[in-house]
Amino acid sequence: MILVTGGAGFIGANFTLDWLDQVGEPMVNLDKLTYAGNLGSLAPLSGDARHLFVRGDIADAGVVGELLARHKPRAVVNFAAETHVDRSIHGPAPFVDTNVVGTFKLLETVRSFWSALPADEGRAFRFLHVSTDEVYGSLGPDDHPFTETNAYAPNSPYSASKAAADHLVRAYHHTYGLPTLTTNCSNNYGPRQFPEKLIPLMIVNAFAGKPLPVYGDGRNVRDWLYVGDHCSAIRAVLEGGAPGGTYNVGGDAEMTNLDVVGTICRILSELAPGRDYAELVTFVKDRPGHDRRYAIDASRIRRELGWRPGESFETGMRKTVHWYLDNGPWLAAVTSGEYHKWISLNYATAPATELRQ
Ligand code: NAD
Ligand code: TYD
Repeated sequence: MILVTGGAGFIGANFTLDWLDQVGEPMVNLDKLTYAGNLGSLAPLSGDARHLFVRGDIADAGVVGELLARHKPRAVVNFAAETHVDRSIHGPAPFVDTNVVGTFKLLETVRSFWSALPADEGRAFRFLHVSTDEVYGSLGPDDHPFTETNAYAPNSPYSASKAAADHLVRAYHHTYGLPTLTTNCSNNYGPRQFPEKLIPLMIVNAFAGKPLPVYGDGRNVRDWLYVGDHCSAIRAVLEGGAPGGTYNVGGDAEMTNLDVVGTICRILSELAPGRDYAELVTFVKDRPGHDRRYAIDASRIRRELGWRPGESFETGMRKTVHWYLDNGPWLAAVTSGEYHKWISLNYATAPATELRQ
């Protein structure tokens, strides 16, 4: 039995589905169901006795403590977080509440459970904290990709809150001996991602014939990883990672935002010949403090745990575009109500400056 938090979000839901499919070990899934949490993503598990969903907050020691006492998981995997950089710029408070205070309270509750375990169970227990490459800050064009020893230099309220959480996890290992693991992964894409992030937003807007809003000059670089490959990396770290260790995860797929959007447009144009989706690309006002480049050196996890990504950017993007095409009801459910409020808030202040191909 494992306890997963944030398992109704993008990566957590993919992890949950993959876990039950490939490992099959029962799981308790604790999620607050914020705007980003979606039980529709877990619909294939309806009636599956191995999956127990509980709505609740990682900061609620009562709920978390009771789940730990009742189910006695051998591991906790913490995905729960506020995750969208643009939202952290408009309103940072929930990022501090969940990512910093929430992680702290979760660590406290888990520490209390773990410290009462018999010695052998305590040694085998793991607290795996899922983090991001954004804690390392921004790279110059010729800098070496981030390694686990890079100094933290977060630049957005989101990345600062994740960095604070990572430091607390590190401290709980160093001070109390809690057997922690931390993964710092690059940008993910794939099925079930809320369409506020770059790739699903572009797919959804292109379907609707709406502008594809590219921030600034579109030359910011991210290192993209298919979500299923992130999930396999987390499983590898959970099983073989050294307690107290941190592991960078990435797919060696550095791309400018313009290249990412171009790939999506090309795949869509192949599926609907005669339409030129690239005409929809619209340059809009840049994000404040926009990090220029992220890139991951994943040699530690490759070398020590034998992990490799299974998808290239091209194969992963094709799967992703097809998934959104084939899952209209999922998309309709997440793009109503609150979604429209966010789109008007974020893009109203970012007028198109020019239309380019
Ligand atoms: P997401 O925003 O899609 O999902 C977050 C989930 O956490 C939602 O289901 C939400 O309801 C839940 N949640 C939020 N606050 C909570 C709380 N206080 N208690 C319980 N549940 C809560 O995020 P994601 O993209 O799936 O990211 C998951 C994790 O992976 C995050 O920690 C994120 O920092 C990290 N990460 C994401 C990426 C990426 O590209 N998406 C890359 C690297 C790391
Ligand atoms: P995002 O998916 O928000 O991930 P992150 O900022 O965490 O890397 O954005 C990925 C890149 O795409 C980032 O450089 C910002 C850019 N971007 C746009 O150009 N337009 C958009 O509408 C969004 C949401 C992002």
